[in-house]
Amino acid sequence: MSGHSVYDVIIIGGFGHVGLPLGIVLADVGLKVGLYDIDTSRRAAIEAGRMPFIEHDAEPVLKRVFGRSLHIVNSLSEVNRAEIVLITVGTPVDEYLNPKLRPMLDLAEQLSPHLRPGHCIILRSTVYPGTSHRLKEFFKARDLDIHLAYCPERIVQGYAIRELRKLPQIISGFTDEALRRADGLFRRLGVETVTVTVQEAELAKLFSNAWRYIQFAITNQFYMVATEKGADYERIYQAMTQNYERGQDFPRPGFAAGPCLLKDTLQLTAFCGNHFQLGHAAMMVNEGLPGFLVDHLRNDLKLDLTNLRVGILGMAFKADIDDIRDSLSYKLAKILQFQGAEVSCSDEFVNNPSFVTKEELAVMCPVLIVGVPHSAYRELVVPAETVLVDLWGVVRSRGGRHAE
Ligand SMILES: NC(=O)c1ccc[n+]([C@@H]2O[C@H](COP(=O)([O-])OP(=O)(O)OC[C@H]3O[C@@H](n4cnc5c(N)ncnc54)[C@H](O)[C@@H]3O)[C@@H](O)[C@H]2O)c1
Repeated sequence: MSGHSVYDVIIIGGFGHVGLPLGIVLADVGLKVGLYDIDTSRRAAIEAGRMPFIEHDAEPVLKRVFGRSLHIVNSLSEVNRAEIVLITVGTPVDEYLNPKLRPMLDLAEQLSPHLRPGHCIILRSTVYPGTSHRLKEFFKARDLDIHLAYCPERIVQGYAIRELRKLPQIISGFTDEALRRADGLFRRLGVETVTVTVQEAELAKLFSNAWRYIQFAITNQFYMVATEKGADYERIYQAMTQNYERGQDFPRPGFAAGPCLLKDTLQLTAFCGNHFQLGHAAMMVNEGLPGFLVDHLRNDLKLDLTNLRVGILGMAFKADIDDIRDSLSYKLAKILQFQGAEVSCSDEFVNNPSFVTKEELAVMCPVLIVGVPHSAYRELVVPAETVLVDLWGVVRSRGGRHAE
C-alpha cells in the first residue's frame, strides 16, 4: 500500500451478490478491504457476521474477517484512501430491454472528486461492450489520470467463495499499470490469470453467459418437441447422457432465469444491432417455457384450470438459493392466474408470508409444478393422484401421475 492508502481495495456495490463474496475472499487472503453500498438494508446483517443472502460457505469467513481486514465504509469519499477501487454495481437493462449506461456514468461522476492521479479502478460488473471505453474517455475528459481495468466476474451465484479461489481470472486494462495492478490483485487469490484486451474481456463475459443461455434453450426446445409429440423427454435425456462422454454437459430442461443470463443475452443482442438470431431464438424458447407448461396442462392433459388449485414448488431463480430476481416461477404463476387457476407457492429459502410449506402444498394442490429443483424436494412425498410437472426429475418420492 502507498503512503496515503488505508485500504488495498474499496468495493463499490460491496453489499451485493458479487461485491460481498469478493470482498470477503480478498479480506481472507490478507488484503484490507472496504465495502461501500447505497443500499443500507443489508448493512446490519453484515455487521452482525450474517450473510444477507444465501452464499454457501461465506458466513464463517465473514465472521472471521469482519472488523479485522473487512470493513464497511460510509462515504464514497473514502475511495481516496484506497489503492484500488473495484466496481461491482448492478447493470440491469431498462424497461425497453436496452442496456443502461447512465448509472455507470453517474457513479463515475460521483467518484471523480475523490480520485487521485494514478488511481486504479477495476470494473467488475458485466457491461454492455464499450462501457469501459466510455468510462476511460469520461475520466480523460476530466483530466483524471486513472488506470482503468476490466475484469469480469464469472462465479455462479451461491458458490462464489469456492469458485473465487479456483476460477481463472480474465484481466484487461487500458494501461500497463492497470494490467499490472489488476493482475496482482487477482493473483492474491492463488488462481491463474488470462490477459486479453478490454473489448475481448467484455465480449468474453457476454459470450459465456449467452452460450449458457442458448444451451438451456436447446434442451428446453427439445423438451417441448418431445412433449408435444407425446414422448417422455426424461427418458430421452437419460438415453442421450448416460455414460456418454460427449453428453455430460448437456443440461436438463427447466427455467433459465435470474438476473444475468437473459439480461446479458439482451445486451449482446443490442450490441449486434438486433441481428443475434441465436440469442433471440433462445429468449423466445426460455421465456416461453412457463406458457408452454400451462398450455400442456390445458391442451394435452385436458385440465380445466378455472378455479383449479395449482402449486408451484420453488420460487427462487435457481436451486438452493433465496434470490427471486427474474425468476420464471413468478411468470408461471401469472399465466396460471390469468387462466383462472388458484395458485399457491412454496419455497425452502424465500421468505414470503403467503407461501406454504412444501408438504402443505403437496396435500392441497391436485396439480404441482416444480419451479426450481431445491434439493429438499428429493424428500417430498407427493400423493399418488397428483399431476406432477417436474422437468428436473427432482421429486423422487411420488406415486403421482407424471405429466411428461
Ligand atoms: N449475481 C451473480 O452471480 C453475478 C455473476 C457474475 C456477474 N454478475 C454481474 O455483477 C454485477 C452485480 O451483480 P449482483 O448480482 O451483485 O447485483 P446486486 O444487485 O446483488 O449487487 C449490486 C450492488 O450494487 C449496489 N449499488 C448500485 N448502485 C450503486 C452505487 N451507485 N453506489 C454504491 N453501490 C451501488 C446495490 O445497492 C447492490 O447492493 C452485474 O453487472 C451482474 O451482471 C453477477
